[in-house]
Amino acid sequence: MTSTYDLNDGTTLPAVGFGTYPIDDPDVLVSALAVGYRLLDTAVNYENEEVVGEALRRTDVPRDEIVVATKIPGRHHAYDDARASIRASRERLGVERTDLHLIHWPNPSVDKYVEAWQALVDAQAAGEVRTIGVSNFTPAHLARIVDATGVTPAVNQVEMHPYFPQVELRAAHAELGIRTEAWSPLGKRQAPFTEPPVADAAQAHGVTPGQVILRWHRQLGSLPIPKASSTERQRANLDLGGFELTEAEVAAITALGREDGRLFGGDPDTHEEM
Ligand SMILES: NC(=O)c1ccc[n+]([C@@H]2O[C@H](COP(=O)([O-])OP(=O)(O)OC[C@H]3O[C@@H](n4cnc5c(N)ncnc54)[C@H](OP(=O)(O)O)[C@@H]3O)[C@@H](O)[C@H]2O)c1
Repeated sequence: MTSTYDLNDGTTLPAVGFGTYPIDDPDVLVSALAVGYRLLDTAVNYENEEVVGEALRRTDVPRDEIVVATKIPGRHHAYDDARASIRASRERLGVERTDLHLIHWPNPSVDKYVEAWQALVDAQAAGEVRTIGVSNFTPAHLARIVDATGVTPAVNQVEMHPYFPQVELRAAHAELGIRTEAWSPLGKRQAPFTEPPVADAAQAHGVTPGQVILRWHRQLGSLPIPKASSTERQRANLDLGGFELTEAEVAAITALGREDGRLFGGDPDTHEEM
């Protein structure tokens, strides 16, 4: 199994990333880099871009091996605000260029996400950002920005875990050539570690339930960004290469999905995060 994913802009991303919310200690991120993570996912609204920047300075891992990913918040969607937001993130992170820059939520009631997308398209053309994408976009939101700009996002970072497996959205992504990135990939505090399809697979393969869920993501082509505090869990969450789930095991885990499976009801059509 490959350890990177190809993107529609000709670049690649590590197949597993590290979620940084709500980490405020750079040593946790230095540890994550030391055990092998090469993608750090932050956001303006996590208020820890400086912490990520500090970890980049402290780590032995060369800067050009690390994908620094951040997000434009809802209050910065107007075109000039979005360009300024991208600049300010670079300053807080202490980087010359961000490697993956996303729109955090579409906030459709504000109705300025097309402007934010145009700002990302222009920032990429200006060399300020390597790869551009979105987060929490539905197929309708995606269609609108592609129609308006002719540019398809490389990535859509969305809620995805066994209780909310995003079957239809992933099919739409496959049609459009968009990589699915999964937030709360384990299911956070509601992680289904004791559900029979997960627990049984863990026992069958001699791995942890967390590794089963992350391997499920990988076999579905999704890029999970688990957050973990301890070095031990960080390492386990990256150690997914030594076993393969059967098709039946993957299907049984996907079948845990349910209509109301979202963790906090974050429906992108109605959820507002400014
Ligand atoms: N775009 C968006 O709107 C959005 C929304 C939410 C999150 N995110 C991103 O997604 C990242 C990950 O999401 P998340 O933190 O909500 O959920 P998650 O990664 O599914 O779960 C993290 C939780 O699981 C625990 N954990 C980690 N590895 C474990 C293991 N192997 N066994 C048992 N428990 C384990 C962690 O505990 P410890 O920390 O104590 O180890 C933590 O409490 C965030 O950090 C953020 O970067 C994005």
